[in-house]
Amino acid sequence: MPTLRWLTRDDDIRAGESVPYRLLEEVPDLGCGDRDTGNMLIRGDNLDALKALLPFYAGQVKCIFIDPPYNTRSAFEHYDDNLEHSQWLAMMWPRLELLRELLSEDGSIWVSIDDNEGHYLKVVMDEVFGRRNFVTTVIWHKMFSVKNSAQYFSEDHDYVSVFARNKDVWRPNELPRSEKQDAMYKNPDNDPRGLWTSGDFSARNFYGAGTYAITNPAGRVIAGPPPGMYWRFSKEKLAELDADNRIWWGKDGNGVPRLKRFLSEVKGGRVPQTIWQHAEVGHTQEAKKEVVALDANDVFTTPKPERLLQRVLTIATNPGDLVLDSFLGSGTTAAVAQKMGRRYIGIEMGDHAETHCQPRLQKVVDGEQGGISEAANWKGGGGFRFYRLGASVFDETGQIRPDIEFPVLAAHVWFSEVRFPWSKPDPLSPVLGVHDGRAYGLLYNGILGDKSVSGGNVLTRKTLAVIRDALPEGFAGPITVYGERSALSDVSLLHEQITFKQTPYDVKARA
Ligand SMILES: C[S@@+](CC[C@H](N)C(=O)[O-])C[C@H]1O[C@@H](n2cnc3c(N)ncnc32)[C@H](O)[C@@H]1O
Repeated sequence: MPTLRWLTRDDDIRAGESVPYRLLEEVPDLGCGDRDTGNMLIRGDNLDALKALLPFYAGQVKCIFIDPPYNTRSAFEHYDDNLEHSQWLAMMWPRLELLRELLSEDGSIWVSIDDNEGHYLKVVMDEVFGRRNFVTTVIWHKMFSVKNSAQYFSEDHDYVSVFARNKDVWRPNELPRSEKQDAMYKNPDNDPRGLWTSGDFSARNFYGAGTYAITNPAGRVIAGPPPGMYWRFSKEKLAELDADNRIWWGKDGNGVPRLKRFLSEVKGGRVPQTIWQHAEVGHTQEAKKEVVALDANDVFTTPKPERLLQRVLTIATNPGDLVLDSFLGSGTTAAVAQKMGRRYIGIEMGDHAETHCQPRLQKVVDGEQGGISEAANWKGGGGFRFYRLGASVFDETGQIRPDIEFPVLAAHVWFSEVRFPWSKPDPLSPVLGVHDGRAYGLLYNGILGDKSVSGGNVLTRKTLAVIRDALPEGFAGPITVYGERSALSDVSLLHEQITFKQTPYDVKARA
């Protein structure tokens, strides 16, 4: 597959590996409403934040929407949008790799971009996500008016590049039917089944039984379908449909047959199309008005309209799904996700994480009525936790820091062994779980309630018995046990099918 080369590519494609796993530290005063909804607002560089999320959310995110800096060389108030091309690619590559790991198998990623980097982005995403997972490039008609001061063209659109994590599995939801579509349905013959529209009775697909002559109700003989076409149904089926008043011959009964399609029988909605008009999904002015309505002094220059995000989330998610935006800006994705009953994680490194996103999401919890609120019947509720990036989980030599709490160490041990997130049981157990026929145990931080010096962190006959007790019933396979020390001999470990690993030294950061 052709790939893109840029100055620092070789370093950039390995950059994600050297990013430290950091702790996310909650800032309770900045959270709001029901903290246990799972919604997270994180302030920090998204490279660190995405890596911090990995042991807990790998493979869990249904939809990622990001709107990274477009690299347009314009002076922006809130962030440096003036990166060189290589720098921009260097910035995007490791983030896209981490985002891919966070996506669920049936998930998708949507990246808003324009002509400055859009085509480079496509090539890089082909490489990171696999070209076969490319879904489409949506064109968003973002401008309401022509910019007559433009030097060359007045730019009307942005792109949204869409990739599935696995295109064999991912399917888009249909969109609700529009009033315009429904307006095409009429009822000129007062059919008791209600409004209908008619479709061609002939098609190009070869159909052996679809070449007969038809006599219409006015007595005119139609020798056969138009040249190169076939009737869609056999002569017998036509008679059956006609008897059921499902064929339209025109007002005077002298036309070619057409098939009646009743609105009441139309299944589902609308297949999404690739051009999104601002009349349906909003434009840049609308987005700016939305943020100003939240705060009259707002100066955030590049928000997206809520309706645009509503369209993305309608196609890509269902209620309860997890949505991630790691370039959160003014908080649009999170606000829309919440109003649509989805869970969200939003990451923003600028001050506006606190000056825009936090107050906006608090207003949403309080029932804010701008943007899509009316359409989504939003009445308020829910909540979120606010986090900042904390210390790194592993020290300079790659070993886990000894002061880490049991659930954090458990998540990292589990993730480094099996590569997917650990589900924290209630109550906590020294057995983290079983994967591919092997159980994983962790003796750490007094998990056994032992108040002795080593706090039950040593593998002994007694602590092993507690681990065995906590194993799923009937489990007889091998066990990897992490602990401070093992008091069992190598022969006993072999006999017990135990691989012992020492904390903190054997818990290594994995890319
Ligand atoms: C174009 S804006 C996103 C606007 C957003 N879609 C909205 O509706 O408000 C891009 C945002 O990404 C943020 N950003 C840029 N680099 C980042 C990074 N490395 N980590 C986290 N946020 C970053 C910027 O601060 C800026 O707010």
